[in-house]
Formats: sequence, structure tokens, C-alpha cells
Amino acid sequence: MADLSSNLAGIKSPNPFWVASGPPSNTAYQTHRAFEAGWGGLVWKTIGTPIVNVASRYSALNFGNQRMIGFNNIELISDRSPETNFAEIAEVKKRWPHHAVIASLMVETREEWREFVKRAADCGADGIELNYGCPHGMCERGMGSAVGQQPEVAERITSWVMETATIPVIVKLTPNITDITAAARAAKRAGANAISLINTINSITNVNLDTFVPEPTVAGLSSHGGYCGPAVKPIALNMVQCCAADAQVGLPISGIGGIANWRDAAEFMALGATNVQVCTAIMHYGFRIVQDMNEGLSTYLDSKGMKSLAELVGKSVRNVNEWKNLDLNFQRVARIDYDKCIGCNLCYIACEDGAHQCIDLLAPESIGVDLGPGRVPHKVLPKIREDDCVGCNLCALVCPVDNCITMVEIKNDKPKMSWSELQDKVARGEMKPIPPHP
Ligand SMILES: Cc1cc2nc3c(=O)[nH]c(=O)nc-3n(C[C@H](O)[C@H](O)[C@H](O)COP(=O)(O)O)c2cc1C
Ligand code: SF4
Ligand code: SF4
Repeated sequence: MADLSSNLAGIKSPNPFWVASGPPSNTAYQTHRAFEAGWGGLVWKTIGTPIVNVASRYSALNFGNQRMIGFNNIELISDRSPETNFAEIAEVKKRWPHHAVIASLMVETREEWREFVKRAADCGADGIELNYGCPHGMCERGMGSAVGQQPEVAERITSWVMETATIPVIVKLTPNITDITAAARAAKRAGANAISLINTINSITNVNLDTFVPEPTVAGLSSHGGYCGPAVKPIALNMVQCCAADAQVGLPISGIGGIANWRDAAEFMALGATNVQVCTAIMHYGFRIVQDMNEGLSTYLDSKGMKSLAELVGKSVRNVNEWKNLDLNFQRVARIDYDKCIGCNLCYIACEDGAHQCIDLLAPESIGVDLGPGRVPHKVLPKIREDDCVGCNLCALVCPVDNCITMVEIKNDKPKMSWSELQDKVARGEMKPIPPHP
């Protein structure tokens, strides 16, 4: 069986699944429950000068029958005292010496940073995570994303931390920034040991059209909240890959954002994350989800003949490239499996109104489809004109039947030619520019 043990910048855990800093990592009681369920590590709810929270604090984006595909919060850092938090970390570490417990910190002055970094090490935490990400409340007080959005400020504060730190330091990045690598490079320059990303994204999930106040509502007002959950995964994957591919960053990555199962975790790892953290999925389904995550990841690694996580980490990073290097002569078209087609014609409408008008609706017999006994009769079925299909994927994406429309490669005799190669050849007079599509 594959070895799931994980090592992020010297912080060891029995598996790569960590509880992210947030409501599920607020207390020792919850941490015991998390580790009993099978989580390998936990980043404590951010510790700092205790705050006062508001009610309500959360809102969500539901889609169809799916609750909470996106989740929004205006909660601040821990409302418990640093004494209580550090004492509980010490208690947890005594009982779980081989699990990773990370103290997430957010304070203001150099003196405070030094004091809190020392207290985190003294209580036995395995590492420190610097929360430069909170996009609400704390940033109005000059902390959280107010730090993370200014790489030079983040660099200065991280170097204060590094002066005192005796345990590994992870800088948690905010996605509310134009170029995530600028923030990651700042962490590297300051001497941090790892980065974690993403924290939550600025958001308003909805507006109540009777009261005209967005959710969550606090006495007739709302506020910009932090967005997370499944909806943010593509944004997080993109940022993780950007940091993993950047030669100037060169730091281990803890991947966060919309992870709910082993597949999500494996994708983050393939794009460069050494381990992963989860918050919203635990708030939705509880700590128990980690059992499937451990089993699923282990089975997957075995099925690929991988003996350890190290063989998976980063495997997809170089498969993402600049657009200018993609092959313009590679051809794919959509093809329909009529044994699966239910004749809903969603593909036809999508191609007709939203793509390239290359699907016709024809009588089944004219396209050689036998709707014999056992098949629902259809007057017309979609037929793709492959010569006109530009291979955009849209029909395959809207088709409600799995693998009914597949995208197939069409071999041609044209050599590989990227946009940048084409530009070079045009500049050298070896080729004419490609004429516009009619
Ligand atoms: C209600 C709530 C509170 C959070 N509090 C913190 C916090 O105190 N410190 C922190 O670094 N991140 C905090 N986060 C952010 C999460 O750790 C995580 O970065 C983010 O939610 C994305 O992961 P997810 O999609 O798995 O939730 C919080 C998230 C939520 C939903
Ligand atoms: S791949 Fe795009 S262009 Fe081709 S049939 Fe489907 S929607 Fe039309
Ligand atoms: S969307 Fe899929 S199932 Fe519906 S008509 Fe097109 S191919 Fe058939």
C-alpha cells in the first residue's frame, strides 16, 4: 500500500490531510475529534488579540439541488484568549505527538509578532502559519489581506517572524491580488519555509430582494465576505500551479480551496501542493469525510503504481504552459454515441446559439440510427458536421449523459505549429499569417 505520510518543510504528518484554520479548528475538543476521525494535521483557528464576532456570519450559494457550492463568511479570527488557545495546543500535542498542529497567527506590531511566535513554539506547535489572507474586518484594522495584498509589507512582517522563529513558518496567501506569485516571492525573500493558499475570496453571495440587504445580514447591514467551498477550487488550482511553476518561488505548498474529496486533493498535489487543507467541506459534512479521502488517495496511488505522495506531487505542473506554446494544428471534433443519446437536443441549441452552428437535426434513419424496440422514438437527432466543428467542447459539456459526446482527435498531415513558432516563421518570411475564419 502506498505511503501517505507527508512532510511539508519539515512538518511531518501521518497523511497529507490537514484541517484548515477556521471554525472546525477552534478548540482542543474539535482537534481530538478531527485526529480521531483520521486527519493528519490541523491549523488552529487564527490566534491574535481576541475579537468580537457578529450574528449572522455565513451565507451560501446554492445551485440546483446542491447546497453550499460556494460559502461566504464575515467571521474574524479567534474570539478566545491567546492563553486558552496556546494551552489547548499544548494539551493536544501531548496526546497526539505524531500529528501536525500548526498555530495560525495574526497580530500587528513587531513586538507582538515576536511574542506570539515564541509562545507558539513554547506550547509545542509543529509550525506557524501567518494569516495574511482574511479579506474582511481584520484588513480594516491593517491586518489579514491588507498585509497579503502588499508584497513588500508581507515581506517585512515575515522577516520579523523569521528573526524569532524556531519552528517552520508557512505564509498563507490571499487570492485577492492580481499576481499571486508576487506575494509568494515576497514570502521566499523573507525566508519563509512554505506557503499555503488560498484564503477566501472577496464576495457578496446574494441580495435579499425584499429587504435589499445582502446575506449575511447584521441588523439591516451586510459586509463583504470571504468566499470558499467547491466554487473556488478552479481559482485555487490556478494559483497553486502558478506558484509551483515559478522558479523564484521554490517553496513547498499547502493547497487549500474547495477540497472535499480525495480527487480534489490529488489534483492539488499534481499541480504542486505537498499537502492540502480543508475547511468548508468539514463544516458541511463533518470530520468523517477524511476516511474516504485517505482510502481513496491510497487506492489511487496504488492503481498508478506510485509508492509515495512524492511521486504525485507536481506531476501536472509542466502540463500547463503559456497559450502561445499550444499546437494550433491539433484537431479535435465532437462525436455522438447514439446508443447513449436521449434526444434532448441540448447539444444542438448550445452549438447553434452559443458556438459554431455545426450540428444539424436529422431524421434518425437518415443518419443510420436504428430506434428499434426499447428506444424512445425521436423525430430528429443531432448530427455533427465534423468538417465544420471547431472542437470547442461546448456540446460535450452540456450533454446530460456521461460519455455520450466525446471529443476525438482527428489526425492531419500538418506539423505541430504554435502561435509563437508561427510568429517567428511569419517574421522570417517563411509563412503567411493565417487568414481570419470566414
Ligand atoms: C467561517 C470561516 C472562518 C475562517 N477563518 C479563518 C481563520 O481564522 N484563519 C485563516 O487563516 N483562514 C480562515 N478561513 C479560511 C480557510 O482556512 C480556507 O483558507 C478557506 O475557507 C478555503 O478553503 P475551503 O474552500 O476548504 O473552505 C476561514 C474560512 C471560513 C469558511
Ligand atoms: S465541439 Fe463546439 S463546434 Fe463542435 S459540435 Fe460541439 S459545440 Fe459545435
Ligand atoms: S445533448 Fe447529448 S443526449 Fe442530448 S441530444 Fe445531444 S448528444 Fe443526445
